[in-house]
Amino acid sequence: MNVVITGGAGFIGSNLVHYWLEHHPEDSVTVVDSLTYAGRRESLGDLSSSPRFRFLEQSIADATAMDGAVRGVDLVVHLAAESHNDRAVAGPLPFVETNVLGTAILLEACRHRDVPRFHHVSTDEVYGSLALDTPTRFTESSPYLPRGPYSASKAGSDHLVRAWHETYGLRVTLSNSGNNYGPYQFPEKLIPLAITRLLRGGKVPIYGDGKNVRDWIYVLDHCGAIDLIAHQGRIGATYLVSAENERSNLDVVGRLLRQLGRGDDSIEWVPDRLGHDRRYALDPSRLRQELGWRPGVTFDEGLAATVEWYATHESWWSPLVAPTPGASA
Ligand SMILES: NC(=O)c1ccc[n+]([C@@H]2O[C@H](COP(=O)([O-])OP(=O)(O)OC[C@H]3O[C@@H](n4cnc5c(N)ncnc54)[C@H](O)[C@@H]3O)[C@@H](O)[C@H]2O)c1
Repeated sequence: MNVVITGGAGFIGSNLVHYWLEHHPEDSVTVVDSLTYAGRRESLGDLSSSPRFRFLEQSIADATAMDGAVRGVDLVVHLAAESHNDRAVAGPLPFVETNVLGTAILLEACRHRDVPRFHHVSTDEVYGSLALDTPTRFTESSPYLPRGPYSASKAGSDHLVRAWHETYGLRVTLSNSGNNYGPYQFPEKLIPLAITRLLRGGKVPIYGDGKNVRDWIYVLDHCGAIDLIAHQGRIGATYLVSAENERSNLDVVGRLLRQLGRGDDSIEWVPDRLGHDRRYALDPSRLRQELGWRPGVTFDEGLAATVEWYATHESWWSPLVAPTPGASA
């Protein structure tokens, strides 16, 4: 199969490219990535020498480039996006341009080139915020209630993908996952920010009261779910991807402090982010029952692997670390 992975130089995308080439030795992968601050060729290692790998430095918002990129392709897995909430609050327009307009342009290219299958990678944030003191979780039929520019732009992209299916018959699947962690994540997000600060002897900033809850998944478990859904998911269907691992930011940072032999005095409390969602939690029953997916690692195993990766890949992250206003998840 010829597969296009958009955003393949980003965090989840680069993990997915490595995963895909390893698990599908008969496939070729083309990465489409415009290399924003979040896109890193280094994350794709020495793949350039592989005859099964191609890199196109293009924006998904470039209609001519996308028309060429998806020609003759069997599957598009779409991850390219602006993805950082703090940046969205500070400057929302790039989020609309890439996540909404860029997705529409990519969908149009896939429609005109009759791409047989399109998988869209999205987030639990489109469903809004849950209260801390309820057991409620999001399901595939939860209403869309995005509260910030990032989640609203991702919600817009989800609606466009469904519209291209309903209106033009494009064969799509969608997945919405919780917060990912693992290798190659830009150190502006909570877990790599905390690890890199601690490895340098610094403090970890935590927003507000630290009680905000996220549903954490190890990135390679997410890649396995994307692979399964893109191949076997029902056309038109959405699948929630969750390892059912709800943790407060304080809990996450506490585990990292213990793993790295540091105490609570390494926490720096900072004022809360504007419109900071309180809790996300996903019910992955459909994915488990229809496709038999299960996560492969526990949270502590995934965290230990992540700490180990950052401890041994300082050359990857050291050019990226700069003073940041707060830890975010
Ligand atoms: N990280 C998470 O926890 C998480 C959770 C759920 C869903 N998602 C979704 O998964 C996808 C990937 O997230 P991530 O964390 O890897 O993001 P990331 O910010 O690490 O990577 C995004 C990639 O997209 C590229 N990109 C940005 N604008 C582009 C454009 N106009 N054209 C082409 N490439 C462009 C960037 O260069 C980068 O390589 C996103 O769609 C995001 O919404 C992420």
